[in-house]
Amino acid sequence: MKPPYCAHLLQSQGCAFALLFDVSVYQMPIHNVRTDKFMLILTAPFKFDTPSPDDIVSSGKNAARNFPKVPLGSTKASSNITGKKEIVNLLPVNEVSNSSSASSSKDNHIDVSESSNSRDYEDAPQIIADDLHRLKLDKNSKDNRSKKASRNVQYKPEKWMLSDQEQGISSQLNLAVVGHVDSGKSTLCGRLLHLLGRISKKQMHKNEKEAKEKGKGSFAYAWAMDESAEERQRGITMTVAVAYFDSKKFRVVLLDSPGHKDFVPNMISGATQADAAVLVVDASVGSFEAGMGGNSVGQTKEHAQLIRSFGVEQIIVAVNKMDLVEFSKERFDFIKLQLGLFLCSCKFKESSVAWIPLSAMENQNLVTTASDVRLSSWYQGFCLLDAIDSLKPPQRDVSKPLLLPICDVVISHFVGQVAVCGKLEFGALRASSKVLVMPSGDLATVQTIQRDYCPCTIAKAGDNVAVSLQGIDAGHVMPGGVLCHPDLPVTVASSLELKILVLDIVTPILVGSQVEIHIHHAKEAARVTKILSLLDQKSGKVSRNAPRILTARQSAIIEVALDGTVCVEEFSVCRALGRAFLRASGSTIAVGIVTRVLEQGS
Ligand code: GTP
Ligand code: MG
Repeated sequence: MKPPYCAHLLQSQGCAFALLFDVSVYQMPIHNVRTDKFMLILTAPFKFDTPSPDDIVSSGKNAARNFPKVPLGSTKASSNITGKKEIVNLLPVNEVSNSSSASSSKDNHIDVSESSNSRDYEDAPQIIADDLHRLKLDKNSKDNRSKKASRNVQYKPEKWMLSDQEQGISSQLNLAVVGHVDSGKSTLCGRLLHLLGRISKKQMHKNEKEAKEKGKGSFAYAWAMDESAEERQRGITMTVAVAYFDSKKFRVVLLDSPGHKDFVPNMISGATQADAAVLVVDASVGSFEAGMGGNSVGQTKEHAQLIRSFGVEQIIVAVNKMDLVEFSKERFDFIKLQLGLFLCSCKFKESSVAWIPLSAMENQNLVTTASDVRLSSWYQGFCLLDAIDSLKPPQRDVSKPLLLPICDVVISHFVGQVAVCGKLEFGALRASSKVLVMPSGDLATVQTIQRDYCPCTIAKAGDNVAVSLQGIDAGHVMPGGVLCHPDLPVTVASSLELKILVLDIVTPILVGSQVEIHIHHAKEAARVTKILSLLDQKSGKVSRNAPRILTARQSAIIEVALDGTVCVEEFSVCRALGRAFLRASGSTIAVGIVTRVLEQGS
């Protein structure tokens, strides 16, 4: 969605239209290029011509109408859905279908703390990272880390970066909305935005009318998020949609993720920016079970695991479609128990998980307490909006040198302008700041910055922004790249050592296994070149050297050779750029962290 940011940004510069250009296709090995070469944003998702002047000029009053719909990463995989592609099921179907299996999976988790219990769990990558000292890292790695660390020590943020110039602006919360396909994520987002006045009556009426005409009346609210013709026709979300609203405490950036398993890469690219998440589950009988992996891969579990490994600690479980189970307390408690055990096994702290029974369709418990007595008779807790406001504000680090992983790139060929979108991980930016664009290594100057569709003078760590750049060739800017401080380039690597936790795969990982590696917004084809060691689940110590295969729930150190290069940092240097996800045959097979950069690319 960041693109709409850019659309407005470019439009305000007088462009007639903009092209969203999937630059990444040029960087990807051929098998990652699926069909089209370009994503022309002249098509519906970009909505360049559809927003009313109000939508563009006003500070986003009706902005939710133009939800930033963006193909994140390679969205061309979409062709798989109706094509009924054979999907290799790498996740077992039964893992946490009852409490005993759930607890056994918990036991199997890597944990370095001798006395850990479910309430003490930290995120898996963190555990992996904490355990680094137990590993013998070679000298290069130590040098690399200490070099980076000393750079950070030498770096001094400028005064304007630390000043509180934009007082009165509440802190931004990037909230990923994730969950199994059809659980009601888009409907929930659409309904929430409508209730908060972010979607005009006129627009809502239009959606209702058109949805009805197409025989998809129940999708009227979802259509607020699912804007492309293909999404509407299929009734599924394919790309991450972004929308904004203000709560009492936060400027909330909603990242509505696709639930279908074919679009997990898009979900990863969007949700990797999340500070917190709403995990939507469908309470109806059979649907909740499907999300947990009834007869197929359950994205409730996959999304929860991914979100946790992105470092998200706070999660709101929205138990949706309660109307379909008569707002039954028993059903809610059942779901809470089953899913709660699984979330525990993913190392979510019990105290950081909020459980909200609701119905997006019937507007129960979204922004006010439930009016339906079948719910209000037994539930008096937070409504969804209050639960969002009860989240802890995310920590921001402006004192470190600039790092902005690029999620999307918008290019205007008419005025030769390029704009990038993404979340500032470290540091701050203002107009006229000089930035180094990696991996090309070109210098550029920041021309304008937009946050939530509005121009702003300064953007700081944590902000989701669109930044227009001057003085750079558009071909040298790509999604998966990084904006950095001119003197402190991010590492560009072609071979990595990873510490991974293998998920519930059925096909083992071997030396030679072909995978797709995802690191922030970058993805690259890669090959497992070595399995160095297996790690003991409890102690984190090496339990076996050079195992031949890796199976479900094992933790290991591996080396991977990438077909191309990616911008990356060791996890100890930068968490956001040091988390890695391995995918194969359409499923996430392992999550982990970068422990060493073995070969730097150019
Ligand atoms: P993907 O993005 O494709 O994963 O789907 P989604 O999770 O965004 O689901 P979506 O919002 O598209 O809704 C799927 C279907 O569930 C639609 O027909 C909705 O009308 C329906 N739905 C959503 N919320 C509710 C609810 O609270 N109650 C009932 N009965 N139906 C709902
Ligand atoms: Mg959706």
